[in-house]
Amino acid sequence: MTQVLIRPAHETDLEAMSAITATSYHEVNERTFQRSWPDPEIRPPARNGKWINRTRHTLTTDPEGCWVAEIDGEVVGGAISRARELMWILASFAVRPECQGQGIGEQLLAAAMHHGRGCLRGMFAASADPVAVRRYRLAGFTLHPQMFLTGVVDRDAIPVVERVRDGSAGDIDLLNSIDRQTRGAAHLSDHEVLLDQFRLIVCERNSGSAYAYVDETGAPNLVAATSRRTATDVMWEALASSTPGETVSVRHITAANEWAVDVGMAARMSLHQSGYLCLRGMQPPSPYLHHGSML
Ligand SMILES: CC(C)(COP(=O)(O)OP(=O)(O)OC[C@H]1O[C@@H](n2cnc3c(N)ncnc32)[C@H](O)[C@@H]1OP(=O)(O)O)[C@@H](O)C(=O)NCCC(=O)NCCS
Repeated sequence: MTQVLIRPAHETDLEAMSAITATSYHEVNERTFQRSWPDPEIRPPARNGKWINRTRHTLTTDPEGCWVAEIDGEVVGGAISRARELMWILASFAVRPECQGQGIGEQLLAAAMHHGRGCLRGMFAASADPVAVRRYRLAGFTLHPQMFLTGVVDRDAIPVVERVRDGSAGDIDLLNSIDRQTRGAAHLSDHEVLLDQFRLIVCERNSGSAYAYVDETGAPNLVAATSRRTATDVMWEALASSTPGETVSVRHITAANEWAVDVGMAARMSLHQSGYLCLRGMQPPSPYLHHGSML
């Protein structure tokens, strides 16, 4: 019988883990995407670099949350998790397609979950893979279906948004405070990684505050707010930065975040469903759109 070794992940495993997650997620996308969606593409090299930087950060802050599976000295799977203020977060979880279904995922998840044993809450975004979802439900997580919006933003629909500005590292205290009010746990040093990978926009008003991390396509990859009004405004500000005529997608929208669906409808984007937000000990955060791995 093949011997599987489950051991803590090291910096030298990052390239192998990046390749495994890219291949395994791509295989799930190919298996589960709908005919009307564009064909799935494997994670491009530029995004692999970002995945590696995010994961390197988690290896530094949470070495006990990061595990790999090895067969004959070769890494065949991994689970990357972190704890932030009593919230356990699973960032990445994958086993090489040809090694799946042999119980490796179950052992990796158990090792990563042990890191969160003192946490009150748990949170992560799941792919549409029925095998992954089975693992998560068996581990006691509640599955909240996720929607996503995609399309070309109707420029005529974009409202004038006031008092939204670019943010910087000087805003991190404010961001952590918004996180605690919406997600129930701050991102802490994860904000430094996010700031490195995205443009930050911030809205501060007497009636509420919000922030969004926006990518180069104009998609808000993470939105947190203390009011629906300010969440709506930062989402519009992000969409306004999309290139006219080009498709933009806003992912990870739970039913608790209808304000985001409403922005998408007004922008004439189309609504679809994919994957789940898996939670333990908490309700779906709102107003909040989570990042896939930084959550
Ligand atoms: C999710 C993943 C990491 C699990 O790893 P794995 O080594 O295949 O998992 P295991 O072998 O420990 O467990 C597989 C379970 O799914 C079950 N299963 C197999 N095929 C299934 C199917 N089509 N539908 C539902 N369950 C299925 C198995 O019976 C087993 O359950 P059991 O232990 O109760 O019998 C792996 O499948 C993977 O990399 N998937 C693609 C990437 C992905 O989606 N990752 C999750 C991102 S959130």
